[in-house]
Amino acid sequence: MPVATLNWVDDALRLIDQTRLPEDLIYINCRDVETVAEAIKMLRVRGAPAIGVAAAFGVVVAAQEAVSREDPVGHIRAAIETLAATRPTAVNLFWALDRMSGVLDDVADTPLAQIHDRLLSEATIIFDEDRETCRAIGRNGAALLGGESKVLTHCNAGGLATADYGTALAVVYAAVEEGKRVAVYADETRPLLQGSRLTAWELQQSGVDVTVICDSMAASVLRDKSIDCVIVGADRIAANGDVANKIGTYGVAVLAREHDVPFYVAAPLSTIDMSLEEGGLIPIEERASDEVTYGMGKQTAPEDVAVYNPAFDVTPNRLVDAIITDRGVARAPYEPVFQEWFSS
Ligand code: MRU
Repeated sequence: MPVATLNWVDDALRLIDQTRLPEDLIYINCRDVETVAEAIKMLRVRGAPAIGVAAAFGVVVAAQEAVSREDPVGHIRAAIETLAATRPTAVNLFWALDRMSGVLDDVADTPLAQIHDRLLSEATIIFDEDRETCRAIGRNGAALLGGESKVLTHCNAGGLATADYGTALAVVYAAVEEGKRVAVYADETRPLLQGSRLTAWELQQSGVDVTVICDSMAASVLRDKSIDCVIVGADRIAANGDVANKIGTYGVAVLAREHDVPFYVAAPLSTIDMSLEEGGLIPIEERASDEVTYGMGKQTAPEDVAVYNPAFDVTPNRLVDAIITDRGVARAPYEPVFQEWFSS
């Protein structure tokens, strides 16, 4: 990644305001929990791993605020609740907050300065681990790409969605580092255009060949453009390998199967939720109607029209050819592979 999506600087969580890309590259310094929670809710920081890392640092911010509170530990616990209520689908958010909560439980009886230091150290570990995880996903996934590959992707599962260079796009970056020639077709990804605004921006910044297409063009591109594979990220993967990812992913998976194009999902182990047997149990976030009716900053539907705006959909495991993780590449049946990974 040419720029850091988020990092901890002095006493603040510094992050790119992704709602402003690609026009403006602007950073926000978050020094209070409300600012962190608002940034996650409004997609200033987004993408499952980045949401988890941001929330972890949000807990550190809460520990800083706690200095002026009567019940400092109570304040940090309340902040964890606030952060957990921001977005429901990406399990990395809850995974990171559980880790921070565990540390808080261990040190709750110690002085606040010590609580703060332990929380900062855990958040930094989560950040560093995410960076290593991206590299491992990249290495494992690059092996699936030939010397010259055309990849179609949906939404943004790149550097902007993680602490390093992504999950789905990590595969692309790693393959390019290995000397392979990779061209990417990026679905624009309505309604919030993470594909055209973010994926195209970061690939262009990195010098990777990228072509933006409207979502409705995916079928003909898969038929006519010799696409070698589809690679997408994930917000939560159920124990059976069903995958929740950005709305529209399911449709792309159906199209890929129709055109005999392999459909790969790239995600860290922290995105796999073994507590959910199948994808129908994954909570799907519904977002405000104006994201659809005022899509491009302009009214694009009649006032007060009914709108359905789920942010994610679930792709059934039978349409997923492989799940690329930091631990290795899983193929169906997924559950025994996941069970083995989580038990060793
Ligand atoms: O609503 P968003 O932009 O947070 O959705 C992001 C996605 O769906 C990504 O594909 C997913 O989080 C994986 S990011 C490595």
